[in-house]
Amino acid sequence: HGTASNVALPAADSLGLPRGLPLPALSMLANQGGSGQFVGQLQAAPVSLPLLPGKPATTFWAYNGQIPGPAIVAWEGDEVNIAFANKLQQPSTIHWHGMPVPAEQDGNPHNPVLPGQQQAYRFRLPPGSAASYWYHPHPHGHTAQQAYMGLAGVFVVKSRHDPLAHLPEQWLVLSDLKLDAHGQIADSSAADRHDGREGQFVLVNGGWQPVIALAEGERQRWRIWNASSARIMKLALPAHEVQLVGTDGGLIGAPRHIDTLLLSPGERAEIVVTGRFATGQPSALQALPYNRGKAMSPEQAATLTLATIRQAGSKATATLPDKLRDITALGEPAVKRVVNFSENMANPAAMFLINGKKFDMNRVDFSGKVGQIEEWDIVSQAHMDHPFHIHGTQFQVIARTDDGVWQTEPFLAWRDVVNIPAGETVRLRFVQSMPGLRMFHCHILEHEDAGMMAMLDVR
Ligand code: C2O
Ligand code: CU
Repeated sequence: HGTASNVALPAADSLGLPRGLPLPALSMLANQGGSGQFVGQLQAAPVSLPLLPGKPATTFWAYNGQIPGPAIVAWEGDEVNIAFANKLQQPSTIHWHGMPVPAEQDGNPHNPVLPGQQQAYRFRLPPGSAASYWYHPHPHGHTAQQAYMGLAGVFVVKSRHDPLAHLPEQWLVLSDLKLDAHGQIADSSAADRHDGREGQFVLVNGGWQPVIALAEGERQRWRIWNASSARIMKLALPAHEVQLVGTDGGLIGAPRHIDTLLLSPGERAEIVVTGRFATGQPSALQALPYNRGKAMSPEQAATLTLATIRQAGSKATATLPDKLRDITALGEPAVKRVVNFSENMANPAAMFLINGKKFDMNRVDFSGKVGQIEEWDIVSQAHMDHPFHIHGTQFQVIARTDDGVWQTEPFLAWRDVVNIPAGETVRLRFVQSMPGLRMFHCHILEHEDAGMMAMLDVR
């Protein structure tokens, strides 16, 4: 599977991107001193960064000149005021992915920031909103390009009552980089626009296969973001002990032992990793083969090493509380809806569809009410997986099919992205707490740009 332009791309090893360096630290834009205000600036502009030794610098589009963009750290209750300047040659927006922000502040495609213009985004972080979010552009038709050129950053909202505050943290932003023979970011091929774009490199905080230090017995809290356009990652840390402690919308009720973690594009997780080096297993963060329904490329069929874990002495094992948070199940819905994901390969102008339609900025697909419990069945009539995402709120997955057989979800969690495997259905519930237009779409950004997106109008 693949087009001529894919075949012509150099293999990762031939490009000379350095690996084995320490995990790059994210630069921070942090709220100083708990003033209740977060004020910051983000500028999107082209930037050239030396990436490959002995080659010309690589041109990215970056927030504040950094890949990934600066990590924003704020607190529950903060008033956020971020001035955005668009220095690109095309319209952009900033979407505050997963955050409960007013619709007109959420960087929808309806509110573009034109080249050379500025916009102030303002919103308040409500109590209970502590979680690992992110921000990225959302202009319709150019989201995938702006994201793969480098525009993405993380936004962590902290709580003053965090039961895991005693653990050291690592923040891992996973992104995908596709380079041409000159070390420049490659254009997307027809296959990329169809299957979703994957590159030769999965980067962690902008570095390739970095080294993470962990002590024997040490417990670290890792926040992981899948900021790639299209790569569904089945993550594993074979040697070490791993507990899932959080999802897109923050902590779950109690830690859960896991062997693998499926993270689809746009999705986040928090895990607690306990260092165990005497196992004979590879000490690495891996992405295992995952069949997302399309023909698997050799890269997808292989196990990728995303980072190696180096033993840094040994440490006493910190306690992990049994209980993390109270999550109340959403009750019986006032409205039930069906959302169909389908593909029409025979029509290149409308290939990826929701309820048989391509996105139209002027068409409201569903009307909803503030405070009303909605239950949606996301039904895949597609041949590949499509991760579902909705703006403005978090949802609870109630049940899903596995080979067509319904399974009740084993635990409560707040999410804003859920993968819909080819041919399966996922049932979820949510409440929108603010009025306005809310997008929902596939988070394979090429599919979103192609029109696999629709709108809920909340009154
Ligand atoms: Cu992360 Cu509508 O997007
Ligand atoms: Cu999709």
